[in-house]
Amino acid sequence: MKIVLVGYMGSGKTTIGKLLAKKLKISFLDLDEVIEERLEDSISNIFNGKGEIFFRKKEHEYLNDVLSQKNNFILSTGGGTPCYSGNMDTMLELADYVFYLKISIPGLVKRLIFEKEHRPLIKNIDDGDLPEFIGKHLFERNNFYLKANHIIECDNKDPEALVAEIQGLLA
Ligand code: S3P
Repeated sequence: MKIVLVGYMGSGKTTIGKLLAKKLKISFLDLDEVIEERLEDSISNIFNGKGEIFFRKKEHEYLNDVLSQKNNFILSTGGGTPCYSGNMDTMLELADYVFYLKISIPGLVKRLIFEKEHRPLIKNIDDGDLPEFIGKHLFERNNFYLKANHIIECDNKDPEALVAEIQGLLA
């Protein structure tokens, strides 16, 4: 089974993905990690040195590589992955399930305010401006996220409960 998790930065894709993979006994892949390993550099350095367009090209290329492999996996994507180069349609076509991990704007602000540093897109946003930035950004990205096969409401639920909810939706 091929399962993809999408959602905004800080929505818990990696945490949930790892836990779900353990429960289902299939391998876990994180697209950001794939990019970092293949390019032998951190996401922040890639953004700073080569720019976002280069990053998006590589993200698209490696996503296609991962999706075309035969083995089963849980893949956690980057927050922007579904929003570029037809990636969301490719994921819907090649994976068995795409889950959108949905969190409210205040929920995202609460998490991201402490985790801005290694995230190039929000690193330089003042804490006070974060709610407006996230609100606008999410509004732009929602069209893509909402195409997922299932929307998982994540506010105020612990990872175990979320994994159980996702497992309940698998045929
Ligand atoms: C991005 C999210 C990041 C990473 C990159 C761009 C985005 O992944 O891919 O910094 O465009 O939202 P996470 O969602 O894992 O933070």
